[in-house]
Amino acid sequence: MKPNNQGKSRLKSVFVCQQCSRESPKWLGRCPDCQSWNSFVETSPTPSRVTTRLHTDVADLQDLSRVAKADSPRFDLGFAEVNRVLGGGLVPGSLVLVGGEPGIGKSTLMLQLSAMMAQRSTVAYISGEESVNQVKLRSERLGIGGEGIYFLTEPDLEAAVACLEGLSPGLAVIDSIQSMYLDEVAGTPGSISQVRECTWRLERWAKQRNVPLLITGHVTKEGAIAGPGTLEHIVDVVLYFEGEPFSSYRLLRGVKNRFGSTNEVGIFEMGDGGLMEVANPSRVFLNAYKEGTVGSVVVPTLEGTRPLLVEIQALTTPNNFAPPRRIANGVDFNRLLMIIAVLTKRAGLKLFNQDIIVNVTGGLRANEPALDLGIAAAIASSLQESTPVSGLVALGEVGLNGELRGISQIERRIAEAARLGFTCCLMPALASVTAGDLRQSLQPAGIRLLEAGSVAEALRLGLTRRTNTKDTAHENAV
Ligand code: TYD
Ligand code: MG
Repeated sequence: MKPNNQGKSRLKSVFVCQQCSRESPKWLGRCPDCQSWNSFVETSPTPSRVTTRLHTDVADLQDLSRVAKADSPRFDLGFAEVNRVLGGGLVPGSLVLVGGEPGIGKSTLMLQLSAMMAQRSTVAYISGEESVNQVKLRSERLGIGGEGIYFLTEPDLEAAVACLEGLSPGLAVIDSIQSMYLDEVAGTPGSISQVRECTWRLERWAKQRNVPLLITGHVTKEGAIAGPGTLEHIVDVVLYFEGEPFSSYRLLRGVKNRFGSTNEVGIFEMGDGGLMEVANPSRVFLNAYKEGTVGSVVVPTLEGTRPLLVEIQALTTPNNFAPPRRIANGVDFNRLLMIIAVLTKRAGLKLFNQDIIVNVTGGLRANEPALDLGIAAAIASSLQESTPVSGLVALGEVGLNGELRGISQIERRIAEAARLGFTCCLMPALASVTAGDLRQSLQPAGIRLLEAGSVAEALRLGLTRRTNTKDTAHENAV
Protein backbone atom coordinates (compact mmCIF):
# COMPACT_ATOMS: atom_id res chain seq x y z
CA MET A 1 0.00 0.00 0.00
CA LYS A 2 1.23 3.47 -0.76
CA PRO A 3 2.28 5.12 2.50
CA ASN A 4 0.94 8.49 3.49
CA ASN A 5 3.63 10.90 2.54
CA GLN A 6 2.50 14.33 3.57
CA GLY A 7 4.06 17.24 5.41
CA LYS A 8 7.57 17.60 6.74
CA SER A 9 8.83 14.09 6.09
CA ARG A 10 8.28 14.65 2.43
CA LEU A 11 11.22 17.02 2.30
CA LYS A 12 13.54 14.96 4.45
CA SER A 13 13.00 11.32 3.86
CA VAL A 14 14.14 9.11 1.08
CA PHE A 15 12.66 5.82 -0.09
CA VAL A 16 15.03 2.88 -0.30
CA CYS A 17 14.47 -0.42 -2.10
CA GLN A 18 15.00 -3.19 0.43
CA GLN A 19 16.28 -5.54 -2.23
CA CYS A 20 18.87 -3.54 -4.11
CA SER A 21 19.20 -0.32 -2.06
CA ARG A 22 18.17 1.99 -4.90
CA GLU A 23 17.08 5.32 -3.50
CA SER A 24 14.19 7.39 -4.73
CA PRO A 25 12.77 10.72 -3.54
CA LYS A 26 9.25 9.32 -3.82
CA TRP A 27 7.61 5.99 -3.15
CA LEU A 28 7.58 3.56 -6.06
CA GLY A 29 5.48 0.44 -6.41
CA ARG A 30 8.13 -1.39 -8.35
CA CYS A 31 11.88 -0.92 -8.28
CA PRO A 32 13.17 0.17 -11.71
CA ASP A 33 16.53 -1.54 -11.01
CA CYS A 34 15.75 -4.96 -9.56
CA GLN A 35 12.05 -5.10 -10.54
CA SER A 36 10.87 -6.15 -7.09
CA TRP A 37 7.38 -5.10 -6.10
CA ASN A 38 6.50 -3.11 -3.00
CA SER A 39 10.09 -3.03 -1.82
CA PHE A 40 10.47 0.70 -1.09
CA VAL A 41 10.57 1.74 2.55
CA GLU A 42 10.72 5.30 3.80
CA THR A 43 13.96 6.10 5.63
CA SER A 44 15.77 9.22 6.71
CA PRO A 45 18.88 9.94 4.67
CA THR A 46 21.79 7.81 5.83
CA PRO A 47 24.45 9.51 7.92
CA SER A 48 27.33 7.36 6.77
CA ARG A 49 28.90 9.98 4.55
CA VAL A 50 29.19 12.34 7.51
CA THR A 51 30.32 9.89 10.17
CA THR A 52 32.89 8.08 8.08
CA ARG A 53 34.78 11.18 7.02
CA LEU A 54 38.38 11.07 8.24
CA HIS A 55 40.50 14.07 9.16
CA THR A 56 43.38 13.84 6.75
CA ASP A 57 45.56 16.24 4.83
CA VAL A 58 48.10 16.04 2.06
CA ALA A 59 50.92 15.03 4.43
CA ASP A 60 49.12 11.76 4.98
CA LEU A 61 49.62 10.65 1.39
CA GLN A 62 52.27 7.96 1.26
CA ASP A 63 54.72 6.99 -1.42
CA LEU A 64 53.76 3.38 -2.01
CA SER A 65 57.30 2.35 -2.93
CA ARG A 66 58.51 3.41 0.53
CA VAL A 67 55.78 1.73 2.48
CA ALA A 68 57.26 -1.16 4.44
CA LYS A 69 55.46 -4.42 3.87
CA ALA A 70 53.34 -5.12 6.89
CA ASP A 71 54.05 -8.50 8.31
CA SER A 72 50.51 -9.61 8.99
CA PRO A 73 50.41 -13.23 9.99
CA ARG A 74 47.16 -14.93 9.21
CA PHE A 75 45.24 -16.66 11.95
CA ASP A 76 44.84 -20.36 11.50
CA LEU A 77 41.19 -21.04 12.18
CA GLY A 78 41.61 -24.73 12.92
CA PHE A 79 39.49 -25.89 10.02
CA ALA A 80 41.78 -26.35 7.01
CA GLU A 81 38.73 -26.01 4.76
CA VAL A 82 37.95 -22.54 6.16
CA ASN A 83 41.59 -21.46 5.93
CA ARG A 84 41.62 -22.57 2.32
CA VAL A 85 38.54 -20.53 1.41
CA LEU A 86 40.01 -17.50 3.18
CA GLY A 87 43.19 -17.83 1.12
CA GLY A 88 45.38 -19.24 3.89
CA GLY A 89 43.83 -18.01 7.13
CA LEU A 90 42.10 -15.03 8.66
CA VAL A 91 43.78 -11.65 8.12
CA PRO A 92 43.84 -9.36 11.18
CA GLY A 93 41.50 -6.40 10.80
CA SER A 94 39.47 -8.08 8.10
CA LEU A 95 35.71 -8.15 8.01
CA VAL A 96 34.38 -11.49 6.84
CA LEU A 97 30.72 -11.91 5.98
CA VAL A 98 29.32 -15.43 6.04
CA GLY A 99 25.93 -15.57 4.32
CA GLY A 100 23.49 -18.42 4.12
CA GLU A 101 19.89 -19.45 4.46
CA PRO A 102 18.42 -19.68 7.94
CA GLY A 103 19.18 -23.04 9.55
CA ILE A 104 22.06 -23.91 7.24
CA GLY A 105 24.57 -23.86 10.11
CA LYS A 106 26.12 -20.37 10.24
CA SER A 107 25.86 -20.06 14.02
CA THR A 108 27.24 -23.57 14.41
CA LEU A 109 30.22 -22.72 12.24
CA MET A 110 30.81 -19.47 14.14
CA LEU A 111 30.78 -21.25 17.47
CA GLN A 112 33.16 -23.95 16.29
CA LEU A 113 35.56 -21.38 14.84
CA SER A 114 35.33 -19.35 18.06
CA ALA A 115 36.23 -22.41 20.12
CA MET A 116 39.29 -23.11 18.00
CA MET A 117 40.40 -19.49 18.09
CA ALA A 118 39.77 -19.28 21.86
CA GLN A 119 42.65 -21.67 22.45
CA ARG A 120 44.99 -18.83 21.50
CA SER A 121 43.19 -15.59 22.29
CA THR A 122 40.00 -14.14 23.69
CA VAL A 123 36.93 -14.34 21.50
CA ALA A 124 33.90 -12.08 21.74
CA TYR A 125 30.69 -13.66 20.46
CA ILE A 126 27.83 -11.20 20.15
CA SER A 127 24.44 -12.45 19.15
CA GLY A 128 21.47 -10.27 18.41
CA GLU A 129 19.05 -13.15 18.14
CA GLU A 130 19.97 -15.92 20.56
CA SER A 131 20.12 -16.01 24.35
CA VAL A 132 23.09 -17.25 26.33
CA ASN A 133 21.15 -20.40 27.24
CA GLN A 134 20.45 -21.27 23.64
CA VAL A 135 24.10 -20.84 22.74
CA LYS A 136 25.18 -22.83 25.79
CA LEU A 137 22.95 -25.69 24.69
CA ARG A 138 24.47 -25.63 21.24
CA SER A 139 28.00 -25.50 22.62
CA GLU A 140 27.31 -28.54 24.81
CA ARG A 141 25.99 -30.40 21.84
CA LEU A 142 29.19 -29.54 20.01
CA GLY A 143 31.36 -30.57 22.94
CA ILE A 144 32.66 -27.04 23.38
CA GLY A 145 33.57 -26.06 26.94
CA GLY A 146 33.56 -22.37 26.14
CA GLU A 147 36.79 -21.24 27.86
CA GLY A 148 37.96 -17.98 26.36
CA ILE A 149 34.65 -17.25 24.59
CA TYR A 150 32.84 -14.22 25.97
CA PHE A 151 29.20 -14.21 24.99
CA LEU A 152 26.74 -11.34 24.91
CA THR A 153 23.19 -11.01 23.62
CA GLU A 154 23.00 -7.42 22.43
CA PRO A 155 21.20 -6.19 19.34
CA ASP A 156 22.21 -2.57 19.97
CA LEU A 157 25.38 -2.23 17.94
CA GLU A 158 26.79 0.79 19.78
CA ALA A 159 26.54 -1.11 23.07
CA ALA A 160 28.07 -4.17 21.43
CA VAL A 161 31.00 -2.17 20.07
CA ALA A 162 31.51 -0.60 23.51
CA CYS A 163 31.82 -4.11 24.97
CA LEU A 164 34.28 -5.07 22.24
CA GLU A 165 36.32 -1.98 23.12
CA GLY A 166 36.39 -3.04 26.76
CA LEU A 167 37.35 -6.65 26.07
CA SER A 168 39.71 -6.09 23.10
CA PRO A 169 39.38 -9.67 21.87
CA GLY A 170 41.54 -11.44 19.31
CA LEU A 171 38.46 -12.33 17.28
CA ALA A 172 34.94 -10.97 17.30
CA VAL A 173 31.80 -12.63 15.97
CA ILE A 174 28.53 -10.82 15.22
CA ASP A 175 25.63 -13.20 14.66
CA SER A 176 23.69 -11.95 12.60
CA ILE A 177 24.00 -8.54 10.97
CA GLN A 178 20.24 -8.46 10.35
CA SER A 179 19.50 -8.57 14.06
CA MET A 180 21.66 -5.55 14.95
CA TYR A 181 20.58 -1.93 14.93
CA LEU A 182 21.96 1.56 15.43
CA ASP A 183 19.77 4.05 17.27
CA GLU A 184 20.51 6.99 15.02
CA VAL A 185 19.57 5.13 11.84
CA ALA A 186 15.97 4.88 10.75
CA GLY A 187 14.33 1.58 9.92
CA THR A 188 13.84 -1.69 11.74
CA PRO A 189 16.71 -4.14 12.27
CA GLY A 190 17.31 -6.00 9.03
CA SER A 191 16.23 -3.11 6.82
CA ILE A 192 18.72 -2.14 4.22
CA SER A 193 19.78 1.12 5.85
CA GLN A 194 20.31 -0.54 9.24
CA VAL A 195 22.26 -3.43 7.79
CA ARG A 196 24.46 -1.12 5.75
CA GLU A 197 25.19 1.32 8.55
CA CYS A 198 25.87 -1.46 11.06
CA THR A 199 28.32 -3.05 8.65
CA TRP A 200 30.08 0.29 8.13
CA ARG A 201 30.36 0.72 11.87
CA LEU A 202 31.86 -2.75 12.31
CA GLU A 203 34.19 -2.25 9.38
CA ARG A 204 35.61 0.88 10.98
CA TRP A 205 36.03 -0.85 14.33
CA ALA A 206 37.79 -3.85 12.80
CA LYS A 207 40.20 -1.63 10.87
CA GLN A 208 40.94 0.70 13.79
CA ARG A 209 41.63 -2.14 16.22
CA ASN A 210 43.11 -4.55 13.68
CA VAL A 211 40.88 -7.32 14.96
CA PRO A 212 39.32 -9.85 12.58
CA LEU A 213 35.56 -9.80 12.62
CA LEU A 214 33.23 -12.52 11.42
CA ILE A 215 29.65 -11.53 10.73
CA THR A 216 26.81 -13.73 9.60
CA GLY A 217 24.06 -12.63 7.28
CA HIS A 218 20.82 -14.29 6.28
CA VAL A 219 20.26 -14.41 2.56
CA THR A 220 17.04 -13.19 1.01
CA LYS A 221 14.96 -15.51 -1.09
CA GLU A 222 16.72 -14.13 -4.15
CA GLY A 223 19.95 -15.52 -2.70
CA ALA A 224 21.63 -12.26 -1.75
CA ILE A 225 22.70 -11.00 1.64
CA ALA A 226 20.34 -8.14 2.47
CA GLY A 227 20.03 -7.05 -1.13
CA PRO A 228 22.68 -7.54 -3.77
CA GLY A 229 25.66 -5.26 -3.72
CA THR A 230 24.75 -3.60 -0.45
CA LEU A 231 27.17 -5.28 1.89
CA GLU A 232 29.46 -7.04 -0.46
CA HIS A 233 31.45 -3.95 -1.36
CA ILE A 234 31.86 -2.89 2.27
CA VAL A 235 33.35 -6.08 3.67
CA ASP A 236 36.70 -7.65 2.77
CA VAL A 237 35.60 -11.22 2.32
CA VAL A 238 32.22 -12.69 1.41
CA LEU A 239 31.60 -16.38 1.91
CA TYR A 240 28.37 -18.22 1.19
CA PHE A 241 27.42 -21.23 3.22
CA GLU A 242 25.27 -23.46 1.03
CA GLY A 243 23.64 -26.84 1.03
CA GLU A 244 20.30 -28.49 0.55
CA PRO A 245 18.14 -29.01 3.63
CA PHE A 246 17.87 -32.75 2.95
CA SER A 247 21.60 -33.21 2.50
CA SER A 248 24.14 -33.16 5.30
CA TYR A 249 26.85 -31.66 3.09
CA ARG A 250 27.63 -27.97 3.31
CA LEU A 251 29.74 -25.89 0.98
CA LEU A 252 31.53 -22.77 2.08
CA ARG A 253 32.09 -20.80 -1.09
CA GLY A 254 34.27 -17.72 -1.49
CA VAL A 255 32.56 -15.01 -3.55
CA LYS A 256 34.80 -12.08 -2.77
CA ASN A 257 38.20 -12.04 -1.14
CA ARG A 258 40.51 -9.07 -0.86
CA PHE A 259 43.29 -11.33 0.44
CA GLY A 260 43.12 -14.38 -1.78
CA SER A 261 41.47 -15.97 -4.75
CA THR A 262 37.72 -16.30 -4.92
CA ASN A 263 35.70 -19.30 -5.94
CA GLU A 264 37.41 -21.61 -3.51
CA VAL A 265 35.14 -24.02 -1.75
CA GLY A 266 35.37 -25.76 1.58
CA ILE A 267 33.33 -28.89 2.11
CA PHE A 268 31.78 -29.93 5.42
CA GLU A 269 29.37 -32.45 6.72
CA MET A 270 26.81 -31.50 9.36
CA GLY A 271 26.52 -34.26 11.91
CA ASP A 272 25.39 -34.72 15.48
CA GLY A 273 28.57 -33.12 16.74
CA GLY A 274 28.36 -30.11 14.42
CA LEU A 275 30.35 -29.48 11.27
CA MET A 276 33.16 -31.79 10.28
CA GLU A 277 35.64 -31.51 7.49
CA VAL A 278 35.24 -34.11 4.80
CA ALA A 279 38.19 -36.43 4.36
CA ASN A 280 38.02 -37.09 0.63
CA PRO A 281 36.07 -34.12 -0.69
CA SER A 282 36.28 -34.87 -4.38
CA ARG A 283 34.23 -38.02 -3.96
CA VAL A 284 31.67 -37.00 -1.33
CA PHE A 285 29.03 -36.52 -3.97
CA LEU A 286 29.64 -39.95 -5.40
CA ASN A 287 28.92 -41.92 -2.27
CA ALA A 288 25.92 -43.77 -3.68
CA TYR A 289 27.17 -44.09 -7.24
CA LYS A 290 27.00 -47.54 -8.78
CA GLU A 291 28.81 -48.14 -12.02
CA GLY A 292 26.77 -49.37 -14.96
CA THR A 293 23.55 -47.67 -13.88
CA VAL A 294 21.24 -46.55 -16.68
CA GLY A 295 20.83 -42.76 -16.75
CA SER A 296 23.76 -42.04 -14.48
CA VAL A 297 26.99 -40.35 -15.61
CA VAL A 298 29.91 -38.99 -13.58
CA VAL A 299 31.43 -35.60 -14.41
CA PRO A 300 34.65 -34.19 -12.94
CA THR A 301 33.64 -30.57 -12.29
CA LEU A 302 35.76 -27.85 -10.78
CA GLU A 303 34.67 -25.74 -7.85
CA GLY A 304 37.24 -22.99 -7.87
CA THR A 305 40.47 -24.90 -8.11
CA ARG A 306 39.12 -28.04 -6.48
CA PRO A 307 38.00 -30.94 -8.65
CA LEU A 308 34.75 -32.47 -7.50
CA LEU A 309 33.26 -35.56 -9.06
CA VAL A 310 29.50 -35.35 -9.34
CA GLU A 311 26.95 -37.88 -10.46
CA ILE A 312 24.34 -36.68 -12.92
CA GLN A 313 21.18 -38.70 -13.08
CA ALA A 314 18.51 -38.40 -15.73
CA LEU A 315 15.15 -40.07 -16.01
CA THR A 316 13.01 -39.93 -19.11
CA THR A 317 9.45 -41.19 -18.95
CA PRO A 318 6.93 -41.25 -21.80
CA ASN A 319 4.13 -38.72 -21.62
CA ASN A 320 1.81 -38.81 -24.58
CA PHE A 321 -1.07 -36.90 -23.09
CA ALA A 322 0.22 -33.64 -21.64
CA PRO A 323 2.94 -31.18 -22.59
CA PRO A 324 6.22 -32.81 -21.57
CA ARG A 325 7.75 -31.61 -18.32
CA ARG A 326 11.39 -30.86 -17.66
CA ILE A 327 12.75 -30.70 -14.14
CA ALA A 328 16.29 -29.60 -13.28
CA ASN A 329 17.68 -30.18 -9.79
CA GLY A 330 21.14 -28.76 -9.31
CA VAL A 331 21.69 -27.84 -12.96
CA ASP A 332 20.61 -24.74 -14.81
CA PHE A 333 17.10 -25.13 -16.23
CA ASN A 334 17.74 -23.21 -19.44
CA ARG A 335 20.93 -25.14 -20.02
CA LEU A 336 18.91 -28.34 -19.72
CA LEU A 337 16.40 -27.11 -22.30
CA MET A 338 19.26 -26.24 -24.65
CA ILE A 339 20.81 -29.69 -24.29
CA ILE A 340 17.44 -31.36 -24.91
CA ALA A 341 17.01 -29.27 -28.05
CA VAL A 342 20.48 -30.22 -29.30
CA LEU A 343 19.88 -33.91 -28.56
CA THR A 344 16.62 -33.75 -30.49
CA LYS A 345 17.91 -31.90 -33.50
CA ARG A 346 21.55 -33.00 -33.75
CA ALA A 347 21.54 -36.49 -32.31
CA GLY A 348 18.09 -37.58 -33.45
CA LEU A 349 16.74 -38.52 -30.02
CA LYS A 350 12.97 -38.56 -29.72
CA LEU A 351 12.46 -36.47 -26.62
CA PHE A 352 9.36 -34.49 -27.60
CA ASN A 353 7.00 -36.86 -25.77
CA GLN A 354 9.19 -37.53 -22.75
CA ASP A 355 9.13 -36.01 -19.29
CA ILE A 356 12.77 -35.42 -18.35
CA ILE A 357 14.16 -35.06 -14.86
CA VAL A 358 17.83 -34.28 -14.30
CA ASN A 359 19.42 -34.42 -10.88
CA VAL A 360 22.85 -33.73 -9.46
CA THR A 361 23.10 -36.12 -6.54
CA GLY A 362 24.03 -34.99 -3.05
CA GLY A 363 22.21 -31.68 -3.37
CA LEU A 364 25.07 -29.94 -5.14
CA ARG A 365 24.41 -27.06 -7.51
CA ALA A 366 26.73 -27.30 -10.48
CA ASN A 367 26.46 -24.74 -13.23
CA GLU A 368 29.54 -25.28 -15.35
CA PRO A 369 29.27 -25.71 -19.14
CA ALA A 370 31.65 -28.67 -18.69
CA LEU A 371 28.66 -30.58 -17.38
CA ASP A 372 26.77 -30.41 -20.69
CA LEU A 373 28.05 -33.65 -22.14
CA GLY A 374 27.39 -35.52 -18.89
CA ILE A 375 23.81 -34.25 -18.87
CA ALA A 376 23.35 -35.18 -22.53
CA ALA A 377 24.80 -38.67 -21.98
CA ALA A 378 22.64 -39.27 -18.90
CA ILE A 379 19.48 -38.32 -20.81
CA ALA A 380 20.41 -40.48 -23.79
CA SER A 381 21.32 -43.35 -21.49
CA SER A 382 17.93 -43.23 -19.79
CA LEU A 383 16.01 -42.89 -23.05
CA GLN A 384 17.87 -45.71 -24.77
CA GLU A 385 18.25 -47.88 -21.68
CA SER A 386 21.96 -47.96 -22.41
CA THR A 387 24.75 -47.86 -19.85
CA PRO A 388 27.90 -45.74 -19.80
CA VAL A 389 30.96 -47.80 -20.70
CA SER A 390 32.83 -49.17 -17.73
CA GLY A 391 34.86 -46.64 -15.71
CA LEU A 392 33.53 -43.63 -17.64
CA VAL A 393 33.54 -39.96 -16.80
CA ALA A 394 32.21 -37.40 -19.31
CA LEU A 395 33.36 -33.86 -19.82
CA GLY A 396 32.59 -31.18 -22.39
CA GLU A 397 30.55 -28.18 -23.39
CA VAL A 398 27.83 -28.74 -25.99
CA GLY A 399 27.28 -26.15 -28.72
CA LEU A 400 24.03 -25.47 -30.55
CA ASN A 401 25.25 -27.29 -33.65
CA GLY A 402 25.88 -30.40 -31.63
CA GLU A 403 29.62 -29.79 -31.58
CA LEU A 404 31.69 -30.41 -28.47
CA ARG A 405 33.88 -27.66 -27.09
CA GLY A 406 36.98 -27.79 -25.00
CA ILE A 407 36.93 -26.86 -21.34
CA SER A 408 39.40 -25.38 -18.91
CA GLN A 409 41.85 -27.24 -16.70
CA ILE A 410 41.18 -30.58 -18.26
CA GLU A 411 44.37 -32.17 -16.83
CA ARG A 412 43.40 -31.45 -13.27
CA ARG A 413 39.92 -32.88 -13.73
CA ILE A 414 41.14 -36.02 -15.44
CA ALA A 415 43.89 -36.59 -12.88
CA GLU A 416 41.30 -36.50 -10.10
CA ALA A 417 38.98 -38.89 -11.96
CA ALA A 418 41.91 -41.27 -12.43
CA ARG A 419 42.84 -40.99 -8.75
CA LEU A 420 39.35 -42.14 -7.85
CA GLY A 421 39.61 -45.16 -10.11
CA PHE A 422 37.87 -44.04 -13.32
CA THR A 423 39.48 -45.46 -16.42
CA CYS A 424 38.17 -43.55 -19.42
CA CYS A 425 37.07 -40.03 -20.21
CA LEU A 426 34.54 -39.08 -22.84
CA MET A 427 35.57 -35.63 -24.01
CA PRO A 428 35.81 -33.18 -26.92
CA ALA A 429 38.41 -34.06 -29.56
CA LEU A 430 41.65 -32.31 -28.68
CA ALA A 431 42.56 -29.53 -31.09
CA SER A 432 45.36 -30.71 -33.36
CA VAL A 433 47.73 -27.92 -32.29
CA THR A 434 47.71 -28.79 -28.62
CA ALA A 435 46.75 -32.44 -28.88
CA GLY A 436 50.28 -33.83 -28.61
CA ASP A 437 51.21 -31.89 -25.47
CA LEU A 438 47.92 -32.50 -23.80
CA ARG A 439 47.91 -36.22 -24.51
CA GLN A 440 51.39 -36.40 -23.11
CA SER A 441 50.41 -34.62 -19.93
CA LEU A 442 47.35 -36.81 -19.53
CA GLN A 443 49.30 -40.01 -20.00
CA PRO A 444 50.50 -40.40 -16.40
CA ALA A 445 46.88 -40.40 -15.29
CA GLY A 446 46.55 -43.69 -17.14
CA ILE A 447 43.10 -42.89 -18.42
CA ARG A 448 41.77 -43.81 -21.86
CA LEU A 449 40.58 -40.77 -23.81
CA LEU A 450 37.42 -41.18 -25.87
CA GLU A 451 37.60 -38.11 -28.08
CA ALA A 452 34.48 -37.07 -29.95
CA GLY A 453 33.75 -34.20 -32.31
CA SER A 454 30.01 -34.11 -31.77
CA VAL A 455 27.38 -35.09 -29.23
CA ALA A 456 26.11 -37.82 -31.52
CA GLU A 457 29.58 -39.31 -31.82
CA ALA A 458 30.15 -39.02 -28.09
CA LEU A 459 26.94 -40.95 -27.37
CA ARG A 460 28.04 -43.70 -29.74
CA LEU A 461 31.46 -43.92 -28.05
CA GLY A 462 30.38 -43.58 -24.45
CA LEU A 463 27.17 -45.56 -24.17
CA THR A 464 26.77 -49.29 -24.60
CA ARG A 465 23.44 -50.40 -25.93
CA ARG A 466 22.06 -53.38 -24.16
CA THR A 467 21.14 -56.26 -26.38
CA ASN A 468 17.44 -57.11 -26.49
CA THR A 469 16.44 -53.52 -25.75
CA LYS A 470 14.74 -51.51 -28.43
CA ASP A 471 16.22 -48.34 -29.74
CA THR A 472 13.87 -46.06 -27.91
CA ALA A 473 12.45 -47.11 -24.62
CA HIS A 474 9.24 -45.20 -25.04
CA GLU A 475 8.22 -47.44 -27.88
CA ASN A 476 7.86 -50.45 -25.63
CA ALA A 477 6.57 -48.51 -22.67
CA VAL A 478 3.02 -47.69 -21.50
P1 TYD B 1 22.40 -23.00 12.94
O1 TYD B 1 23.86 -22.92 13.14
O2 TYD B 1 21.54 -22.52 14.05
O3 TYD B 1 21.96 -22.30 11.59
P2 TYD B 1 21.92 -20.75 11.18
O4 TYD B 1 22.69 -19.99 12.19
O5 TYD B 1 22.53 -20.73 9.81
O6 TYD B 1 20.49 -20.36 11.13
O7 TYD B 1 22.13 -24.52 12.58
C1 TYD B 1 20.93 -25.06 12.80
C2 TYD B 1 20.79 -26.40 12.11
O8 TYD B 1 21.92 -27.22 12.22
C3 TYD B 1 19.65 -27.11 12.78
O9 TYD B 1 18.74 -27.50 11.78
C4 TYD B 1 20.27 -28.29 13.45
C5 TYD B 1 21.56 -28.50 12.75
N1 TYD B 1 22.63 -28.97 13.65
C6 TYD B 1 23.10 -30.27 13.52
O10 TYD B 1 22.67 -31.04 12.67
N2 TYD B 1 24.10 -30.71 14.35
C7 TYD B 1 24.62 -29.90 15.31
O11 TYD B 1 25.52 -30.35 16.04
C8 TYD B 1 24.11 -28.58 15.45
C9 TYD B 1 24.63 -27.65 16.51
C10 TYD B 1 23.12 -28.16 14.60
MG1 MG C 1 21.98 -18.53 13.54
